[in-house]
Amino acid sequence: MAEPTRNATLTLDGNTYDLPVMSPTAGPDVLDIRKLYGEADVFTFDPGFTSTASCESAITFIDGDVGELLHRGYPIEQLAEKSSYLEVCYLLLYGELPTAAQLADFEARVTRHTMVHEQMHYFFRGFRRDAHPMATMVGVVGAMSAFYHDSTDINDPWQREVAAIRMIAKLPTIAAMAYKYSVGQPFVYPKNSLSYAGNFLHMCFAVPAEDYVVNPILAKAMDRIMMLHADHEQNASTSTVRLAGSSGANPFACIAAGIACLWGPAHGGANQACLEMLREIGTVDRIPEYIAKAKDKNSGFRLMGFGHRVYKNFDPRAKVMKQSADEVLGLLGIENNPTLQVAKELERIALEDDYFVSKKLYPNVDFYSGIILDAMGFPTSMFTPIFAISRTVGWISQWKEMIGEKNQKIGRPRQLYVGPPKRDYVDVRHR
Ligand code: CMC
Repeated sequence: MAEPTRNATLTLDGNTYDLPVMSPTAGPDVLDIRKLYGEADVFTFDPGFTSTASCESAITFIDGDVGELLHRGYPIEQLAEKSSYLEVCYLLLYGELPTAAQLADFEARVTRHTMVHEQMHYFFRGFRRDAHPMATMVGVVGAMSAFYHDSTDINDPWQREVAAIRMIAKLPTIAAMAYKYSVGQPFVYPKNSLSYAGNFLHMCFAVPAEDYVVNPILAKAMDRIMMLHADHEQNASTSTVRLAGSSGANPFACIAAGIACLWGPAHGGANQACLEMLREIGTVDRIPEYIAKAKDKNSGFRLMGFGHRVYKNFDPRAKVMKQSADEVLGLLGIENNPTLQVAKELERIALEDDYFVSKKLYPNVDFYSGIILDAMGFPTSMFTPIFAISRTVGWISQWKEMIGEKNQKIGRPRQLYVGPPKRDYVDVRHR
């Protein structure tokens, strides 16, 4: 636990209260208000948690003003260039980059857990065939606690570890099954000779009737997309996982809660919404119409893939993603893809527009990811499930960190009540 470095003083109704100030290793200082209610009988009010640190964490740091993202101290740009998704998973989970032997062992452990219990195949059949893959994933991941009882005891470190490996290994299998089910094709079993990302592509695109060879360019691009989404400190879905976990819920239930939260269009659902928006715009001449709509508060329309709660500068993931989009589409020979042209022009125009400049709205990770996933052959409905696969390691790392804390407490915010004061019940005949 960080130690106080000095005190701030709050004066209220003639009384003064000391609020310890804690200094993090990076980022703004934090006022410790834990004793405030007990001592001063007041709550703080911060809907949307815009100024509230909900926990102490050593996993990920974002400096939104300069557009920096660090995992365990390592910049995302360096990881994207030099590392792999599974290596970043190890880093997030265990705190340090692995040695070659540790990485090989970790990869082998994940690879050996890629299959799901055969009975789960029947469980899928209960869903409507046209179900959105995210709806299926929320249900199936939640149901993992019914299939893997031996890794639900959160007080047993070994069971926590097995649950973590199981989820990292099986989420791609479950997402691919949800996809196959939604398009009426047979499930494809994992192939452990392939890389993590290559195996996912194989499970999505192979069919029993034909051989499927994983394109190494696409496997590398998928690995990078997964890495760029691996963790993002206390975002909405991660906070959901922590809150669910704070009650002692099992890890599969917590991750299912995270997936449900991620699905929203303001969060992980934005990648699907963004590509649909770019397609709707269709041609560069229609961009001004959409820019005007995004600026009009009454339209209810926002530029999807733009803006971020924390980044008030370029999202560093968006920069890497844009470069990846250029590379992948170039290598596939479809660099003239009209959606990519619309995206680039939209970005250029928005970044020169006073509305977006003054509100510090920049492209976020979702702005270019959909274009790459579309070029790979994924339908838009699979974009958010791919985000969910990738973010699973972040959710689990944050959940494990929380469970490992001494004096961990159930999360229980307070409120500013504005409803009726106490009043007496009136019989229905007299209302
Ligand atoms: N288009 C137009 N105006 C916007 C946009 C946008 N995309 N984003 C924010 N604004 C305006 C908003 O209307 C508000 O204006 P005003 O101050 O005049 O009322 C101002 O900018 C601040 O917006 P906010 O909603 O208070 O900011 P927030 O921090 O609560 O919301 C956000 C952040 C990501 C939900 C929001 O920017 C948004 O809805 N973006 C579009 C959806 C999107 O791309 N989401 C993906 C986020 S990155 C991936 C992830 O983490 O899941």
